Amino acid sequence: MRHRFLISIALMTAVLLPSWTPAQELAPIQLPAPQTEGGKPLMQALKLRGTSRAFAPDPLPSQTLSNLLWAAWGINRPDSGKRTAPSARNWQETDVYVVMTAGAYLYDAAANILKPVASGDLRALTGSQEFVKDAPVTLVFVADTVRMKGAQADMHQAYAWGDAAFISQNVYLFCASEGLATGVRAMVERPALAKALRLAPSQIITFAQCVGYPKK
Ligand SMILES: Cc1cc2nc3c(=O)[nH]c(=O)nc-3n(C[C@H](O)[C@H](O)[C@H](O)COP(=O)(O)O)c2cc1C
Repeated sequence: MRHRFLISIALMTAVLLPSWTPAQELAPIQLPAPQTEGGKPLMQALKLRGTSRAFAPDPLPSQTLSNLLWAAWGINRPDSGKRTAPSARNWQETDVYVVMTAGAYLYDAAANILKPVASGDLRALTGSQEFVKDAPVTLVFVADTVRMKGAQADMHQAYAWGDAAFISQNVYLFCASEGLATGVRAMVERPALAKALRLAPSQIITFAQCVGYPKK
């Protein structure tokens, strides 16, 4: 009897498991150390910077992803923990979420790790435009107002958007340097995406930014 009970529990578990989508199903991704040398000279990258809205589906190699994230919002002065982009009063209130086919991750710049947030392909949730589901990587910039110590509440949005814009431009210049396609977007499905990314009410989604290879 006990044997039959255990078998039915095992069967129920096997049937139920595939429909669960906890972040625990995703393993953390340890990124290779970023390569912080090389690339095109700044003036050439500025000449090439532009918004793309057509992406090839090919995934980015993990080295490229690591380099991209470091350029975007990595720590460039380890002594102080300061970043490649400025932030108001050095609040560093922006988090970069990385949405890919397998799921969504949080970029931990200090550990150079992508931490699992939610499994499943959430790319289509990151915007209302058709191409958003094609790019292999969408970065989502999320500001946590809890970190804006001493800021007036009516300034939260301005700081969040301003700080994210600097990160976005770093992404643009990195992509120009590497021959990658990118495009920043304010047209984001915020309520649905906030839910999927399990954001707290104190967190503000500012931009999403697709990155990938240009569509041939
Ligand atoms: C704040 C901001 C929001 C934007 N939102 C979108 C967007 O939701 N969708 C989109 O396709 N492009 C968006 N863009 C890209 C602009 O349309 C693009 O930068 C502009 O057309 C100029 O083109 P360029 O970036 O190639 O110079 C946005 C750009 C900025 C700065």
